[in-house]
Order: sequence, then C-alpha cells, then structure tokens
Amino acid sequence: MKVTVVGAGAVGASCAEYIAIKNFASEVVVLDIKEGYAEGKAMDLMQTASLNGFDTKIVGSTNDYSKTADSDIAVITSGIPRKPGMTREELIGINAGIVKTVSENLIKHSPNVILVVVSNPMDTMTYLVHKTTGLPRNRIIGMGGALDSARFKYRLAEALEAPISDVDGMVIGGHSDTGMVPLTAHATRNSVKVSEFLSEERLEQVAADTKVGGATLTKLLGTSAWYAPGAAVSGLVQAIACDQKKMFPCSTLLEGEYGLNDLCIGVPVILGKNGIEKIVEIKLSDAEKAKMQESAAGVSKTNGLLEL
Ligand code: 2OP
Repeated sequence: MKVTVVGAGAVGASCAEYIAIKNFASEVVVLDIKEGYAEGKAMDLMQTASLNGFDTKIVGSTNDYSKTADSDIAVITSGIPRKPGMTREELIGINAGIVKTVSENLIKHSPNVILVVVSNPMDTMTYLVHKTTGLPRNRIIGMGGALDSARFKYRLAEALEAPISDVDGMVIGGHSDTGMVPLTAHATRNSVKVSEFLSEERLEQVAADTKVGGATLTKLLGTSAWYAPGAAVSGLVQAIACDQKKMFPCSTLLEGEYGLNDLCIGVPVILGKNGIEKIVEIKLSDAEKAKMQESAAGVSKTNGLLEL
C-alpha cells in the first residue's frame, strides 16, 4: 500500500506521521514544492521509526511526481492555510489553481489513485477536483466531517464531564464556520441521547463551539491546526487501505442524495478499498434538513467563485 501526501506543511507532515505510526502502509511519499523541505520532513520522521515502532518507509520529494507513481491513495493538503480572522472561503483564489495542478499530476502518475482532499475551502476544492479530473465520485473524498466530528466529541465530552470514549456524535454539512451541522439530537453517551444529560442551551453552545473549532485554533496558533486534521486524514486513509467499511462523514459529490445535486458536502459514507462505497442516507428532522439546505446554499455560492 503506497500513500502520497502532497504538501509537507504542518497538516501534511502530521498526516504522514499518523499514517506511518499506524503501520498499515508500506510507503508514504511526502511531496512539496519547497526545495528539500519534504526530504527533510521525511528524514526526520524516518528517524522516529525505531522509537515509535513502525516499518513504513517515508520518502520526501521536491515536486518530482515520478516518486509518487502507482500510489493507491493520495492526500492533497497543498495551498495556503488560513490566518486568524480569515474564513476558509477566502483561500479559494490561490488554492484552486494549486489543487487543480496537483490532482492532475497525481493522476498522471497513478491512474487508479483514490484522492483525499484536505485543502480549503475543502468542499469547493473537492468539487473542483471532480470537475477537472472526471474521476468517478467514489475516488474523490473531501476530509472535513471526520475532523469536525472529532471536535464535536471533544466539546460533548467537555460538557458532559465524561471521557471522550463514552461519547459518539457526527457533524455533517459544509466544512465552514457557518455550514457545519452538528447532529446534537443524534449524539449519545453510551447509547443514551446526550439530551438526557444536557440542557438545550448547553447543547446549542456545544454546537456553536464545534462550528468555530478551526477558527478558535487558528486564533490561538496564528495558523490552521494540524494534529486533529492529520489524525482525521489518517483515519480515512486507513479505512480505505485496510478495507474497513467504516462510516465517516466526508465531502462527496451528491447526485440527489439528501435532496441535493451538483455539489460536494459532508454526509455519512462507508469507506473501503474502493473509496466511497456507499452514501448513507440517515433520517433528518425538518430542522436538520433546513440546516443542511442552508449549508448547501453556502457551499454552492463558494463553488460559483470557481473559474471552471
Ligand atoms: C481545520 O482545522 C484544516 O480546515 C482545517 O478546520
């Protein structure tokens, strides 16, 4: 199993690290345009192998896509991250051109690759990859919901004063401060609805804190977060590589599911060796459906800024 990670910045390096530590891939290629940077990150990570007990070979490459040849899965993290006060949508101008070129180069050297898109604005970048590559929809996966759900579980555990392993919950919708739809009514602690333990107001606060999860960290760190994004990507990559048939909310091209068409947005999917093997349509309340529609309208508006 060969995995490529494009972009050796904080998110890309964190993806490579988590994938290597989980020890399911034989090779991870890290590619960056900055001379020597990916090679440096790869060497540093390789020097953790004996300490962290993994055998995955990590190779760095300065923009040489021949090194990525025959990758099974490739993760696109390239582009600029947001700065404090910026929305993910503001990155579209610079990142669209980069993501288009990167996906074309990847496919040229790995025609059967499954692409995981992380660059922001993620739902729109995932849509751009669909529009420009023509790959079947099961092979293009946007990473957002897995991360947002992890942040939701963190906030739920905090509110419940419970260990995170007690908590389950999911965030669907767009990966943006206004577009996320944390499914508070479906969230559970050991299969008991969290609404049994938390007031409506507290749950609304949990949802609000979840939605600005990325922005809160960007303000604290001065740049976009990387540990949780890297861990979320590694979970998706492992589910595909190990054919786990696990369910994650991911951004995928909708063709009528959830009453939506011609956009990529976060919904629950089953991930296995073919990438997205199934889109899971869960029953939503009227209020949740309305939030999903509003979120979709926001994503479509950003998609409209693409020069396709
Ligand atoms: C986030 O931290 C990377 O979009 C990303 O939310």
